[in-house]
Amino acid sequence: MRIIITGASSGLGKHLAIAYASSNNELVLLARRQEKLEEVALECRLKGAKVDTIVSDVNDFELIQTIGTQLAQTQIDRIILNAGISLGHSAGVTLFEDFHRLFKTNFLSIHALLEPIIPKMIAQKSGEIIFISSLASLMSMPTSVSYSSSKRALNAYAEGLRYQLKPYGIEVMNILPGFIDSEMTQKNHFKMPFLLSTDVGVQRIQKAIAKKKYFYPFPLRFYLMIRVALLLPQFLSDRIVNYANFKKGE
Ligand SMILES: NC(=O)c1ccc[n+]([C@@H]2O[C@H](COP(=O)([O-])OP(=O)(O)OC[C@H]3O[C@@H](n4cnc5c(N)ncnc54)[C@H](OP(=O)(O)O)[C@@H]3O)[C@@H](O)[C@H]2O)c1
Repeated sequence: MRIIITGASSGLGKHLAIAYASSNNELVLLARRQEKLEEVALECRLKGAKVDTIVSDVNDFELIQTIGTQLAQTQIDRIILNAGISLGHSAGVTLFEDFHRLFKTNFLSIHALLEPIIPKMIAQKSGEIIFISSLASLMSMPTSVSYSSSKRALNAYAEGLRYQLKPYGIEVMNILPGFIDSEMTQKNHFKMPFLLSTDVGVQRIQKAIAKKKYFYPFPLRFYLMIRVALLLPQFLSDRIVNYANFKKGE
């Protein structure tokens, strides 16, 4: 199986690459930090996988489209669009420059890469496209407006694309993790509810992909709490958000 993973130099992307590394799989790993990416590639090769690395910034759209076109010269069985950033949690108004960078990384870069890849999958009549969204896309907090917005845009994209590509035998899956221990969350200075280790997070994601879950929010208890909060009358939701925000400030 030929699997492409973006954001494979750390966190979920790195551990997904290692989890999929075997002599049956050919991996293409993409990220900016060459040294870290090569370390991951080495670990995957030791497990028998054939690995190519691409050192690139997903925000360089022209380059990323060229890369997508090159990747599409050969069969693509699975692509995991995992590269992403957060700006940390802050109460202030996000600078437009930061907002723009975040939206490019978490959202626009995804279509830049997929545009040349989707026709290849349509021609193949097969393929899996996996997005790593977030539970934060379901309920936007006052301290994560930009991140939640970018991931909610991704949900809409994933939903529409799934309907668009289903007739061609292409599976589109959207994974919405809660808090997972990674470089991204190690910056957070508040108690993260239901925090999972990277290993557990990756196991859940792998299982969801194996079962071809088109929408997979986890951990379930955290997801259900958010769903309940969204069903409440607005004044009660406001209270919960204010309380959660107060806790973050502790
Ligand atoms: N951790 C969580 O609690 C959590 C929860 C929900 C969703 N997620 C999502 O899961 C995904 C992975 O995050 P993580 O937690 O594993 O964080 P992470 O350890 O910070 O990993 C992020 C990855 O994205 C890559 N990346 C970032 N900007 C990039 C760019 N401009 N070009 C190319 N690669 C770039 C990074 O590589 P380089 O820096 O080497 O480029 C790194 O490999 C993200 O989409 C995140 O939003 C995480």
